[in-house]
Amino acid sequence: MIQNNFTIFDCSIVHFPKIQNRAGNITPIQNNIESPFAIKRVYYLYDVPGGESRGAHAHKELEQLIIAASGSFDVTIDDGKNKKTFSLNRPYFGLHLKPGMWRELSNFSSGSICLVLASQLYNEDDYIRDYDQFLKR
Ligand code: TYD
Repeated sequence: MIQNNFTIFDCSIVHFPKIQNRAGNITPIQNNIESPFAIKRVYYLYDVPGGESRGAHAHKELEQLIIAASGSFDVTIDDGKNKKTFSLNRPYFGLHLKPGMWRELSNFSSGSICLVLASQLYNEDDYIRDYDQFLKR
């Protein structure tokens, strides 16, 4: 059972700092400063074949920041009532996902990297992988 009532309107794009210099840029993300939550896990998706989709699940408690560290992709979020698609294509923007959002990642550009900062360690019990079960939660 999900214990919260977040909607897609609680999810937003976070603008991270971009420290520029002639030799390239740096984007720092610190716990509870640039990140709206304390980060316990980092993972990244890469070598995603063109046309492939990922995600198609919700989390009961997990909060995430999803970042196109390289390239671009789309993230469609759904709270059971409302849906919205965000196109991520800059490494200094993150999509802050509150718990309870069904999400699908699609349209990966070739060579793209999806960096995810997460508020909890990996826990399969936190996943809802069945859409009908998600709607009934
Ligand atoms: P999953 O989160 O379902 O990936 P996606 O939604 O992008 O398709 O994870 C795919 C597999 O990887 C699943 O078997 C669990 C494993 N996994 C971990 O072991 N640790 C992790 O931190 C993550 C994100 C996934």
